[in-house]
Amino acid sequence: MRPSLQKSRRHFRKALSRLPLGVSSNFRYWGEEGTIYIDHAKGARLWDLDDNEYIDYRMGYGPGILGYADPRIDAAAIDGMKTGGVFALSTEREYEVAARISKMVPAAELVRFSNSGTEAVMAALRLARAFTGKDSHIIVEGGYHGVYDSVLWYADIEDWNPLAGDPDVKPESEGVPRVLKKLAHFTPLNDANYLESLLRKHGSHIGAFLVEPIMGNCCSITASKEYLHDAKALCRKHDVIMIVDEVKTGFRVARGGVQELMGFKADLCTFAKAMGNGYPISAVAGREDIMRKIGDGVVHAGTYTCHSVALAAAEKTLEILDETPALQTIADYGTDLREGMGRILSARGIPHSFVGHPSMSGLFFSDTAPTNYRDWRDSDYSFYDSLAPELHDLGVLCEPDSREPWFICESHTQDDCLNPTLDAFEKAIDITLNRLDSPRKGFLQHENI
Ligand SMILES: Cc1ncc(COP(=O)(O)O)c(C=O)c1O
Repeated sequence: MRPSLQKSRRHFRKALSRLPLGVSSNFRYWGEEGTIYIDHAKGARLWDLDDNEYIDYRMGYGPGILGYADPRIDAAAIDGMKTGGVFALSTEREYEVAARISKMVPAAELVRFSNSGTEAVMAALRLARAFTGKDSHIIVEGGYHGVYDSVLWYADIEDWNPLAGDPDVKPESEGVPRVLKKLAHFTPLNDANYLESLLRKHGSHIGAFLVEPIMGNCCSITASKEYLHDAKALCRKHDVIMIVDEVKTGFRVARGGVQELMGFKADLCTFAKAMGNGYPISAVAGREDIMRKIGDGVVHAGTYTCHSVALAAAEKTLEILDETPALQTIADYGTDLREGMGRILSARGIPHSFVGHPSMSGLFFSDTAPTNYRDWRDSDYSFYDSLAPELHDLGVLCEPDSREPWFICESHTQDDCLNPTLDAFEKAIDITLNRLDSPRKGFLQHENI
């Protein structure tokens, strides 16, 4: 039986009278009938207005690394509240948190804080432009770097005809100045030759290469170590700053983020999400010579930067991630979940693969995991699209879009979360197969792409 969303629907109609789409972020709108309003959350679980309970694998798009309402972090935040908020002056704690980040991420020689991932990326791009004197940048196809006009462009892979050359580049939103299009260049992940020819052609205008080595908004498609090292060498050769956007991977996939996993150092990197276990804080960090441009021509500011509550939450979150085995526990839970799902899918002969780090897994309905966004078209994402609502009905909340990974937190324990998730997954798979009529219909849908 489908869970009732009666109260959420009633609230949606009310909210619509004061809030566009009835929500405060376009991505929270799931249609007139399906938009869910949350009553409260704890650990890895959410309860909506209708008292439906969900095991959550979205975790706020990644910030929940320890779990919702973690008592250790909330106690630190309450302590931070006593400091008083924001003062248009700094506090000692900023140094303490910056020092912790530098210890965990060797590339982070200097650190500046903001409130959101968007602001951190914006600062990184500005620094790169200022340092190189070049205004254009490169984005990896399928990458998402926030709601800042310079990065609100995408390579349209869904409507792409490979025989007609590269995918079109389009704005993600109306209102993004068209003039910015010429500053944004695109490259497929894991194709150093493509990157090289792009840099050979446009390198004299390009100041930054923006990359998420595990693509947190594109099924966790992962860069190879070799690609990253080649890309870094190419960036150096063409005087381009390599910005590693760790807004999703930072303090999640390893203590030192994706840079630790891949064994390399960015010129600049950006952090948010897991850094404060959901409290709003972010950072841009990197090479001292670039970061010192702040105060030497580059402006970086913000009324709310380092609010005492968010800063105290970040201090405690990072301490836990650095000094306890939390990240190993999370990776183990992710591995267990993958193995369990894999067994269920294999038993039914369903081609599948997992990609990315176990703490943020992409699930693909194809034998081979994609190596870039162009490959994603070959997976049976329509099967995923049919499966996700069934999972929701069974109390497992994953993103309805297959491009968003499954996020794991320290509260996704085996008995309380993983086992019930696997039970629901098995049921949802069978329902989806039955609904698709023929067991393999869904998998064949895209074979002509
Ligand atoms: C890789 C990456 N960069 C930047 C952002 C923007 O962060 P925020 O939504 O906090 O502005 C996101 C958000 O999901 C992200 O995933």
